[in-house]
Amino acid sequence: VATEHERVNRTFWDADADDYQAAHGEVLDERPAAWGVWRIPESQVRALPRVVDRDVLELGCGAAQWSIALARWGARVVGLDQSAAQLAHAARKCRSANADVRLVLGSAEALAFADRSFDLVFCDHGAMSFCDPRRSVAEAGRVLRPGGMLVWCASSALRYVTHDDDRDRPSRKLRRSWFDLGPMPEAEGTFDWVFTPGQWIGVLHEHGFVVEDLIELRAPEQAETGYPGWSRKWSRRWPAEEIWRARRT
Ligand SMILES: C[S@@+](CC[C@H](N)C(=O)[O-])C[C@H]1O[C@@H](n2cnc3c(N)ncnc32)[C@H](O)[C@@H]1O
Repeated sequence: VATEHERVNRTFWDADADDYQAAHGEVLDERPAAWGVWRIPESQVRALPRVVDRDVLELGCGAAQWSIALARWGARVVGLDQSAAQLAHAARKCRSANADVRLVLGSAEALAFADRSFDLVFCDHGAMSFCDPRRSVAEAGRVLRPGGMLVWCASSALRYVTHDDDRDRPSRKLRRSWFDLGPMPEAEGTFDWVFTPGQWIGVLHEHGFVVEDLIELRAPEQAETGYPGWSRKWSRRWPAEEIWRARRT
């Protein structure tokens, strides 16, 4: 049974997929293996382990630009998304790229995969931003093999705490309580889940992970983004996005 936030997010992405791909698809196609809204290349960030001959699961793959890139690098990739409309874009892109990516419709909170079937579970502003971490981390821990990695990029808690919702801009004020984040209905229509670093460390430990790194992304000097609600100036001074790297013990 889907949770309320899964239903809200599925409805949002099914309705928004065409507009989202029209607005961002070209940039994502041009810079596929790159992180976050500033598209910082994986070749610089080096957040992922070696993927050749590895079983990889992308949580909330959208149009599968990341999955296609990892398949090209030699991984066996499954792209999971709970939005059929997003997966329709993914299927078209996989066909035109002739990429061997298995696409699966489903939620990261209830994975239809056997225990210990992946070496890497990852996403870039994917399902880890929209799921209850107590459920998504438990599922990632279940499907990863011992030694496997969970890697994801998401907005930082600091970004949510300082965001000026009226102007849809980052600000220099602390506007929300650090201790009352968690499930957050967003004005644009999604339902985000925001955990503080302390909460992430707690839930990761609970499900058999050790944290290897927390990479705080800084916008490059000349970087541009087509995503609304971000500021390069702000993101050069404070970490608006972060990449977590955790290993399944
Ligand atoms: C912001 S998009 C990002 C997708 C891709 N990484 C990109 O940059 O375009 C977030 C994706 O997560 C998916 N998603 C949200 N909640 C999910 C869930 N519970 N399970 C699987 N996918 C989910 C959405 O359908 C959407 O395609």
